[in-house]
Amino acid sequence: MTMLSTRAGAAPYTRLLLTVYDLWVIRISNSFAWRCNSAHFVDLYRQHIGRRHLEVGPGSGWALANIDLPTEFDLTLLDLNANSLNHTASRLGVTVTQIKHDVLVPLDERTDTFDSVSINYVLHCLPGDWSTKAAALTNLARTLKPEGVLFGSTVIGIDHSFNMLGKALMFAYNKIGAFDNRRDDLPGLRRLLSDRFEQVEVTMVGNVAIFVGRRPRTTN
Ligand SMILES: C[S@@+](CC[C@H](N)C(=O)[O-])C[C@H]1O[C@@H](n2cnc3c(N)ncnc32)[C@H](O)[C@@H]1O
Repeated sequence: MTMLSTRAGAAPYTRLLLTVYDLWVIRISNSFAWRCNSAHFVDLYRQHIGRRHLEVGPGSGWALANIDLPTEFDLTLLDLNANSLNHTASRLGVTVTQIKHDVLVPLDERTDTFDSVSINYVLHCLPGDWSTKAAALTNLARTLKPEGVLFGSTVIGIDHSFNMLGKALMFAYNKIGAFDNRRDDLPGLRRLLSDRFEQVEVTMVGNVAIFVGRRPRTTN
């Protein structure tokens, strides 16, 4: 894996793209390409977000902006791209801690531990196969409190049910490096999560795996 390929997954999120992200990704792509209505993500966040929360790869901050945030909410944003950090922080209008960091690289040991960590629509942007992407889940499992929960979703690349729009976007996004998910399969994702969490739930909606991991294993 090169630094260049890691950066490719975060590079598209310019200030301009973030202004149209909700329309293109949340409304159009989710419903018509991946066939996973955005309401599934709102439910996911509502069910699992905790008081001290780490949001990995916030993009436009859409999910956090569309739920009632817990009282005394303590939010940390982590992203390789400063545009996503700044856009989300100003959209939410709450005090946030921002960490500009590659999720594939271990976090500073002084980083807080969290009640909840979300990594929504980020795994399909990371370079390599599951053996490379595993580092992200290892790093995040380590930042959770023992009773903490990790949740998120990812477009599964090894899937024979893509529609025409899904196939076209898979081709285009993988070509430019915005996605690198052609080798991502569902059993592999389940294995990665089960190796790091005692309790795992994975549900497929359209081409999207929605996942929850509880009780991080301490051996990781
Ligand atoms: C597709 S957007 C997801 C946005 C949002 N979470 C959502 O659900 O719509 C991917 C986000 O992950 C960030 N990202 C991509 N690669 C990353 C990496 N290696 N480390 C940290 N953030 C990364 C991008 O900059 C972007 O903000």
